[in-house]
Amino acid sequence: MTLSPTRPGAIGTPVARIEGPLKVTGTARYAVEYPVENVVYAWVVQSPVARGTLTGLEAPEGDDVLTTLWHGNAPTLSEVDDPELAVLQSPTISYRGQVVALVVAKTLEAARGAALGVELEIAQEEHDVLLRDDHPGLYTPEKVNPAFPSDTSSGDVEAALTDAATTVDVTYETPALHNNPMEPHATTALWVDDELVLYDSNQGPSAIASQVAKVFGLKSSQVHVVAEHVGGGFGSKGSARPNAILAAMAARVVGYPVRLALPRQALFTMVGHRTPTIQRVRLGATADGVLTAIAHDVVEHTSQLFEFAEQTAVVTRHMYAAPNRRTSHQLARLDVPTPRWMRAPGEAPGMVALECAVDELAAALGLDPIELRIRNEPDVEPEDGTPFSSRHYVECLRLGAARFGWDTRPRQPRQRREGRWWVGTGVAGATYPSMVMPSRATVRIDASRNVLVEVAAVDIGTGSRTVLHQVAADVLGVPLENVTVRIGDSSLPRASIAGGSSGSASWGWAVDGACRKLREELTHLTGPVPSSGLSASFDTGPDVRSRENAGKHAFGAHFAEVRVDADTGEVRVSRLFGQYAVGRVLNPRTARSQFIGGMTMGLGMALHEESVLDAATGDWVNHDLAEYHVPAHADVEWIDAAWLDEEDSSVNPLGVKGIGEIGIVGSPAAIVNAIWHATGVRVRNLPVRLDKLL
Ligand code: MOS
Repeated sequence: MTLSPTRPGAIGTPVARIEGPLKVTGTARYAVEYPVENVVYAWVVQSPVARGTLTGLEAPEGDDVLTTLWHGNAPTLSEVDDPELAVLQSPTISYRGQVVALVVAKTLEAARGAALGVELEIAQEEHDVLLRDDHPGLYTPEKVNPAFPSDTSSGDVEAALTDAATTVDVTYETPALHNNPMEPHATTALWVDDELVLYDSNQGPSAIASQVAKVFGLKSSQVHVVAEHVGGGFGSKGSARPNAILAAMAARVVGYPVRLALPRQALFTMVGHRTPTIQRVRLGATADGVLTAIAHDVVEHTSQLFEFAEQTAVVTRHMYAAPNRRTSHQLARLDVPTPRWMRAPGEAPGMVALECAVDELAAALGLDPIELRIRNEPDVEPEDGTPFSSRHYVECLRLGAARFGWDTRPRQPRQRREGRWWVGTGVAGATYPSMVMPSRATVRIDASRNVLVEVAAVDIGTGSRTVLHQVAADVLGVPLENVTVRIGDSSLPRASIAGGSSGSASWGWAVDGACRKLREELTHLTGPVPSSGLSASFDTGPDVRSRENAGKHAFGAHFAEVRVDADTGEVRVSRLFGQYAVGRVLNPRTARSQFIGGMTMGLGMALHEESVLDAATGDWVNHDLAEYHVPAHADVEWIDAAWLDEEDSSVNPLGVKGIGEIGIVGSPAAIVNAIWHATGVRVRNLPVRLDKLL
């Protein structure tokens, strides 16, 4: 076989981020960096109590203060699906940190200073912020996100567990977590007649324009959202957040453009978090490790304002075969901010419990944990029999084990000591659904074969802008330098959000489709490209959203090696490896970056990250990066990712399954399992702090 050499820049080549030079030279513009004339500044005033009623407010006056908005004087907004966007509309306080007022002033310092001086009159009530699995308010939601049944069951789990040769019945707890993107949520808002322009840090300009338009009773076309560069989001910028509404409202009231950059501390209450979970997993198996029962029952929280039901146990519906099975979700409505999406919402916390419980079952059976997983590999979707479009989970386990060096691993824990360290290894599965969402792209080519791609996609740091260049260059057969990609603007052809690991699948498909149409036109062209150029548009179609995702998933396996200090319990992750099967990889450089980024976040979830709610004040105790710990370089000693060639054009014509989230799914469990293997200690509540090992 001869391989044709791949053209530089084509799909599958490791192109460096197109906007990299702009970012490292500080010339890439973020939401509050756009030069706007006569701009003024806003600062939020947040509730100091977790539950109550705001009965009065006294605002300091000063030369530079333009106004202090609160529910007593704020303009009325239209009702929208997300009550968190109904800012300054009601005296009711639903959580500590809720925005109760907004000071607008000529300078940032004046706004902040005046905000500190605002006096609030509040009728405070008792609050309840702590999740317990015996909480009296627990209830079953009708659906879990985005629209899955809350509970599923088949066969007879209880009978199967009674009859099983070996069982595991364990409860795992994961804490609340916060997304903490590098760039905090921020908006510059200005009104031009009846049109609203928002320079806003978000994961979907089209979606944010529609949401903001509804809040202000405008048409979507009256709101222009620009998000050219975005410093991360991890889900917390996937929908309009209160900062966008507040900035727009303030700009309308004072008649000047308004900048509102949330301080890091405000992110902990204002833009969402990952719900804490309490997860009971019960497994039953025959003596040779064939699962007969799987039950995964989840308790989690939501807010008083909005039912956000994380789909934590849904992942268990796809992983392993067993004739008797159940999954369930229960929620407690607490006096807390509304939880929202955070990288692999559902899958990430759900796989902690499932994949640690599977590891516990392997230990109880005296079986290798990889072998146990292979023995329970399903032929079809375990719950409904849908065939998998492609599933290379077993290959990932086997290939990953070979690359990681699994075969010399002692079966028993606490076997390997190197100086002051106990050393162990662990494994866990990974999976994430392959999704596509409606998107449209327009592509134009001129007589000099310069190509302009337009799609309201957004690059939140993933490399999506770069891979869209590659798709266009590849399909049209032009050099990468000939391609210009315009994204990050709601005035471009409408596109889906950078969420659900669906960006390349959705926007890539739209760009691919438009380029193919254009190529077809060029083939039939007699004579040169007209001076006006040629263009084509492609829409992934309105029915894509309803297309069944059943059977369509990316898979992978995570492997960890840890060292645990025998005296202090300090955990170091010496190696972390991910082996994936994710369909086609458009750019190995940016893909690897997504994988190891997800895995690093998984490391944080296993060992460092924990948002603590204080029962007395109802506040997050740790609300900055000094006290909310994310992994630093020194915490990541060796990390790598690999993927196998997988072709699956049924997921979308590009054959990409999505890579943004799978790295955080299962990697925390691999680390927790490795800690057990090193020490013999099972820690079932994350993060695994050293005090839990002593
Ligand atoms: Mo992701 S949590 O779907 O932005």
